[in-house]
Amino acid sequence: MPLVSMRQVLDEASKGGYGVGAFNVNNMEQIQSIMEAARETNSPVIVQASRGARSYSQDRFLYHLMIAATEVYPEIPTVLHLDHGNSVETCQSAIEMGFTSVMMDGSLMPDGKTPSSFEYNVKTTREVVEMAHAKGVTVEGEIGCLGGIEDGHGAGLDGLSHLTDPDQAVAFVKQTGLDALAIAIGTSHGAYKFSKKPTGETLKMDRLIEIHKQLPNVHLVMHGSSSVPQDLQDIVNQYGGKLKPTWGVPVEEIQLGIRNGVRKINVDTDNRLAITGAIRKVFADKPEEFDPRSYLKPAREAMKKLVALRMTQFGQAGHAGDYKPVSLAGMAEKYAGDAVSV
Ligand code: G3H
Ligand code: 13P
Ligand code: ZN
Repeated sequence: MPLVSMRQVLDEASKGGYGVGAFNVNNMEQIQSIMEAARETNSPVIVQASRGARSYSQDRFLYHLMIAATEVYPEIPTVLHLDHGNSVETCQSAIEMGFTSVMMDGSLMPDGKTPSSFEYNVKTTREVVEMAHAKGVTVEGEIGCLGGIEDGHGAGLDGLSHLTDPDQAVAFVKQTGLDALAIAIGTSHGAYKFSKKPTGETLKMDRLIEIHKQLPNVHLVMHGSSSVPQDLQDIVNQYGGKLKPTWGVPVEEIQLGIRNGVRKINVDTDNRLAITGAIRKVFADKPEEFDPRSYLKPAREAMKKLVALRMTQFGQAGHAGDYKPVSLAGMAEKYAGDAVSV
């Protein structure tokens, strides 16, 4: 089947009460890991590429690898999503390339660092929604800025002020008409999220529940959702890595989120750790090896294992065959006819 829209995949997840992992990719092996995990668990998938990934893969390589994925795994509904688009132009180029979903991250200015104003966020996100929906492409927006609470300065702001404000979230959804909403509840990107197992003070699941109560029909997105498992940290460090002690987002907290409107869960770091640990092990155990396949195969297998586990934990396993894909043209008609609530 061709690449499908993320809106359809999330609508189905909402009906079934499960979440869908969105896994970042940069190369062929990562795409293959996700698709193999999807086949093994019979899961719909969201594959996402950041601006960095698009640049690393020269964009077209990544796109054509994804087309290959749809040919080799025709039974798997597969979304190609732009992660953290920093401007209307970036989203536009992704749509032109064939992405079936884009994130306009207007919570930050185009530098990807500076927190923006609510007005800027609404304006840019709304613009992307108009452009994308005309082509049946899904739009994720973000309100609030990712960042830890422990250090007191998430996204350069003080205390808790970078977290999503529920009233602002309601206004944002209404004024933009987006399909999925990323919220900030104290998670951050990368391996160093929490200095100890997070509590309600550092990971604000109560905030998420409050937002879901106010927006019961909106698909929520959790960014920075790697769990940074201790066993993966240990493998990396056992074979020469130097990771400092750290904690990620416990899977049971993500599952609580899924029971409260979370439909998309972003995971990159855990897969990076799985790949790096596997490669380091081959380098340490077999220093005589120099065929890249000798370490890329175990790396691909390690990522596949982790993705399959997350697919099962998020509940998407078993749901690949539940529905027939709606074409992007069909989605565009639905948006035009208001058959898709925004
Ligand atoms: O948003 C963060 C993702 O982990 C992608 O990271 O920008 O280094 O590709 P990246
Ligand atoms: P992690 O760094 O926790 O894997 O988060 C990835 C992410 O949010 C990509 O947008
Ligand atoms: Zn993110």
